[in-house]
Amino acid sequence: MTQITLTDTGMTVPLAAGETYFNYCWLRDACPSCIDPQTRERIFDVASLPALPRAGSARIEGDELVVDWQTEPQVSRIPLALLETFAARGRAEDPADVPRTLWHGGHAPDFLRVSQEAVQNDPGARAQLTRALIADGIAIVTGMDPDEGSLPRLVEAIGPITPSAEGLFFDVRVEIAPTNLAFTAGPLEMHTDLPGEEAAPGVQFLHCLENTVEGGQSLFLDGAAVAEALREEDPEAFRLLADNKIPFFYRHDDWDYRAHQRVIETDPEGRVTGVTISQHLQDAMDLPQHLLDSYYPAFVKFLKMMQEDRFVVRFRSEAGNCVVFDNHRIVHGREGYVADSGKRHLRGCYTDRGALRSTYRVLAKQGHTGLARAAESLQSA
Ligand SMILES: [Fe+2]
Repeated sequence: MTQITLTDTGMTVPLAAGETYFNYCWLRDACPSCIDPQTRERIFDVASLPALPRAGSARIEGDELVVDWQTEPQVSRIPLALLETFAARGRAEDPADVPRTLWHGGHAPDFLRVSQEAVQNDPGARAQLTRALIADGIAIVTGMDPDEGSLPRLVEAIGPITPSAEGLFFDVRVEIAPTNLAFTAGPLEMHTDLPGEEAAPGVQFLHCLENTVEGGQSLFLDGAAVAEALREEDPEAFRLLADNKIPFFYRHDDWDYRAHQRVIETDPEGRVTGVTISQHLQDAMDLPQHLLDSYYPAFVKFLKMMQEDRFVVRFRSEAGNCVVFDNHRIVHGREGYVADSGKRHLRGCYTDRGALRSTYRVLAKQGHTGLARAAESLQSA
């Protein structure tokens, strides 16, 4: 077995992944004594040392790396498992780092369906729901209680309600003086909600209280799947939409939200993490006019793809169901309906993606991974 090698700035440790270099400051910060067991917060400040930490000696004892520091009378015992994780992944273990499962048109029967009663009372079901929202970006909660407090009870099982310009909740039904096209009987083009906000709401809940109208099918698609298809079919169009920000707004008498967003969001590894799209809340483009000569064709191509049957899932919202989806990834819309043919009333609200992941991590740590799924399938009418 190779030995630990000390240098001026760090050390090389023999690990399963091979010899791996760790910086001394990082190792000192990784010492378990840096975290207060009561508050679970960091109580060590590397900047409080008179000089940067430097190891005097280091050895492996059992499943720990033991470091004697030259710069202070401190011995650190760092779990090798932590070093192995960083050697393999480059970052800490994260149970919420669940790979996205891209989905296409026809996928509706595979959406997770789970009852409100189960979500609220069974941590296993709550884990299934939160995991599905991370992996698929969408799930359907069935058997919602019809009372006023039903939606907040469901949301709070996942995270605190995030307010928007509309307040804590919004009602989607025909209004006399609508503030949003959603509040009319007209068709609603495929969109993500509130891109004019600096950070658009993360997770959206749409609780169907009543739906007896003709038409008005709900439309959903996986924006990440469409973006990946665009990358495959037209890499230059993908690059234009992923690299440039365009303006969105949300404007009325008492508010004037404006923000620039990338239509395709990618992470540092270039993977698609989401999309932002909303023609009805899109402001006048302010990219250089010559750039628009290539940007607009790419943008229009992406918008047209979002109308294709290969991506879009359609189903009728049933009273008592609540569709929950990632507002940064799942693009939704609605077909028009005949306003006087019956009643259609959806109540919505939001929580954020950070709260969703937090809830999943806590459940996963308790052993509820949400991997087993109920086999109930979606009724698409
Ligand atoms: Fe919407």
